[in-house]
Amino acid sequence: MKRRDFLVTAWQGMGAIIAAGTGFIGLRYLVSQNEESTSGGVVTAGAVEKFASGTVTPLPEAKCYLVRNAEGGFLALYRQCTHLSCMVIWERNQFQCPCHGSAFTLAGKVISPPASRPLTRLAVQIENGQVRIDTGKQIKRTKTTAEDFVYPPEQTA
Ligand code: FES
Repeated sequence: MKRRDFLVTAWQGMGAIIAAGTGFIGLRYLVSQNEESTSGGVVTAGAVEKFASGTVTPLPEAKCYLVRNAEGGFLALYRQCTHLSCMVIWERNQFQCPCHGSAFTLAGKVISPPASRPLTRLAVQIENGQVRIDTGKQIKRTKTTAEDFVYPPEQTA
């Protein structure tokens, strides 16, 4: 084999390997996006008194965190970062994104970019003392407000 033919073959082989790798990464990204976008309907988190004030409870079955603020209000935050959809984690009193460093408050407000929007909210219903999360109702926000929290019927904010 001539040197020139060898180099052409080597370049073609490297191109094929790079194309296959890129395709695999793209396919994995698409699959992960589909997994996260699947809605599971209404998920019952549990009785109101099960969640203490000032706590954050991960609810994998609803793909969210259930926040109960110091005043007793509930907020369900979708676990995807609003930058590029990585899964945020609750750590050191804030939601942190391991991908590019965004951070959010307990209410989902951005405290560190590159994310520019608050964490997406899921609709919370409190019926018969049970906290329910409607995973099919994602509420994208441009700002956070006190009205984002849902209070048990017998309690006022
Ligand atoms: S995906 Fe969260 S900061 Fe980029």
